[in-house]
Amino acid sequence: MMEQTNAAVLDAPAAVFMAGGWGKDAPEDVTRRRPVSGEGGEYHEPVLLRETVELLAPAPGKLFVDGTLGGGGHSGALLEGGASVIGLDQDTEALAFAAGRLKEWSGRLELVHANFRDVEDVLRRLGAGSLDGALLDLGVSSRQLDAPERGFSFQRNGPLDMRMDPLCPVTAADLVNNASGAQLEAIFRNFGEEPAARRIAAYIIRERCVHPFRETFELAATVERAVGRHGKLHPATRVFQALRIAVNRELEALAEGLGQFAARLKPGGRLAVITFHSLEDRIVKNFFKSRSALVIDRPEWPEARPNPDLIFKLVTRKPVLASDGEQSRNPRSRSAKLRVAEKI
Ligand SMILES: C[S@@+](CC[C@H](N)C(=O)[O-])C[C@H]1O[C@@H](n2cnc3c(N)ncnc32)[C@H](O)[C@@H]1O
Repeated sequence: MMEQTNAAVLDAPAAVFMAGGWGKDAPEDVTRRRPVSGEGGEYHEPVLLRETVELLAPAPGKLFVDGTLGGGGHSGALLEGGASVIGLDQDTEALAFAAGRLKEWSGRLELVHANFRDVEDVLRRLGAGSLDGALLDLGVSSRQLDAPERGFSFQRNGPLDMRMDPLCPVTAADLVNNASGAQLEAIFRNFGEEPAARRIAAYIIRERCVHPFRETFELAATVERAVGRHGKLHPATRVFQALRIAVNRELEALAEGLGQFAARLKPGGRLAVITFHSLEDRIVKNFFKSRSALVIDRPEWPEARPNPDLIFKLVTRKPVLASDGEQSRNPRSRSAKLRVAEKI
């Protein structure tokens, strides 16, 4: 069904995106109201919604790409602000949910099953013009995390899957059962910053000879056997984060997507990125920094030189964090950081 939607979207005439006729006035504060009537909160509570929408400033005639549509919370607010939205998600289930939730704006909304690392390709095929803004709200949705059958959580038993895109061939079980000890160690260390990466990898290698790992609880129990339980953090937290990042190639997608979004923005257009851990935040911070510095200075140079990559000015010098109220209402928002840059 989603493939049909996808094909329909990609065959759609470009005019659909830019069709005018909306009034001039944007609503005062679109985030005060729920973005979409009733449903949706149980699927995923959007983080930093007010802050993000204020900084992106949706208005009639503006075109945005939401590269991580999820339950459509942020897209709904952009649409309510009068803008047109192209929403991408690699999860067909998220697209189906958001299509229903956002149907009242279907005239200004296009949904595409795609990885945002391919956004330039998608936009070219759609015939879309340059963008007034783009949003990436990274990671998994609450719905994905909470659904045992998706295998993202060590707190729910399910198949060791972790694919955001169900059409991708490699699952977490494939990695856990087939990667070498050195590869597993590198995954846990590089993507989970797990200090006991080697020990956990060794336990996995030993135990998978007896029986291959199939379920989340099996892996969580092995990690716990390897490192024990200390403090509040579940011992499998970092390992699950690392596997999820590896299965979905999240950091590669981010690095590739950022450049494409930046290239597609019109002058004055803004790129907003919400991250949830230091690995992805570092990539975003460095990307914005390297493209907003006026000059580059190297010790071996007699003087600083103009930055050839200068395309942005920073809108947020420091990342925007969730308010105390949001943090207590939605614990997921505690690690969220929003960074925004504007094309010059
Ligand atoms: C945190 S949720 C977004 C929630 C959304 N902002 C909302 O308000 O409901 C992240 C979503 O992005 C999707 N996603 C993550 N990485 C992606 C990528 N590289 N390409 C496309 N979709 C991605 C996930 O499948 C998930 O549905």
